[in-house]
Amino acid sequence: MWLGFSRKGNRAGIEIVRIHAQNEHETVAAGITEMDDKDEIEKFTRELQEQILEQMRRTYGPAVIDHWQNPRNHKIIENPDGRAQLQGTCGDTMEMFLKVEDETITECVFQTDGCGTTIVCGSVATELAVGKPLIAALGAVSAAEILKVLGGLPESDVHCAQLAAETLRRALADYLHQRNTPWKKNLGKPE
Ligand code: FES
Repeated sequence: MWLGFSRKGNRAGIEIVRIHAQNEHETVAAGITEMDDKDEIEKFTRELQEQILEQMRRTYGPAVIDHWQNPRNHKIIENPDGRAQLQGTCGDTMEMFLKVEDETITECVFQTDGCGTTIVCGSVATELAVGKPLIAALGAVSAAEILKVLGGLPESDVHCAQLAAETLRRALADYLHQRNTPWKKNLGKPE
């Protein structure tokens, strides 16, 4: 009974322990002690998250916080029409994947091993790209545009926007290259 609660870790589980208490006091005492520990950990985690958020708010605007907490298009897709991976000046990498239909970007996703700001910039860049015709996307998704959406970034983070914009530009170039040389797509693949 107690192990079940420990794994579930929810209020329903607490009720199970209380019912159990009518028969086995020792087991329940142990259970409540462990529950207190769990509550402490949750409280500590909440406070830590609030502290981090407070520090973030002192440095970054609301749009950065929003994309940081809810990054868009942060995933990979199979069989993309265009793809690029690029390493920034700081050593972080970003990878972008495109799906294109009728010369319009229908899907644009990314992954990165970079910092939170890199994720934020990838999130904005992909959002800016989706729904745009290829040529329009080339013009519209620049580091300057990403910074504008975010309300600016500290100087030390500007290269994250440059990395996102440049990765997208290369993914578009990869798509155009594959479109113009479709026979290369299957080179090296088993029959
Ligand atoms: Fe290197 Fe963001 S810190 S790309």
